[in-house]
Amino acid sequence: MERTFAIIKPDAVERNIVGKVLEKVEAAGFRIVGMKKIQLSKKEAEGFYYVHSERPFFNDLCSFMSRSPVVVLTLERENAIAKWREVMGATNPANADAGTIRKELGLSIEENTVHGSDSPESAAFEIPYFFSQLELL
Ligand code: PPS
Repeated sequence: MERTFAIIKPDAVERNIVGKVLEKVEAAGFRIVGMKKIQLSKKEAEGFYYVHSERPFFNDLCSFMSRSPVVVLTLERENAIAKWREVMGATNPANADAGTIRKELGLSIEENTVHGSDSPESAAFEIPYFFSQLELL
């Protein structure tokens, strides 16, 4: 069993489609081991996305992620990291495969509905950034 970290981003929470995303999470065989709705500060978004701090879109990305609440999740199943990336689809919804969350629900490369850890190292940083041991059940 492996764990990954996911975010349902502001564009999805604002459009009231959290349930649609969660349906896809469960249909893909993930167990939700942690889940909460939070409001990120700009600073918290910057800390989370520090690996992208030199990229030109960093400021826009952190402003977007802190403009309204998000739902953060820790998900578990076999091969969870790769499987969640597959279920999400490509970063840019225009390039995502049919049936993926970003193809069906994403609006743009920035407002792309969901985040997922891209490696075991990322998951090991991202899960405890938001969840304490006691919140993972
Ligand atoms: S990935 O998943 O790391 O390979 O994707 P990447 O292209 O490196 O993008 C990393 C995150 O930055 C967001 N992004 C952008 N935001 C705003 N504007 C532009 N142009 C842009 N390009 C990429 C993208 O949605 C990724 O967010 P996360 O939350 O990591 O999925």
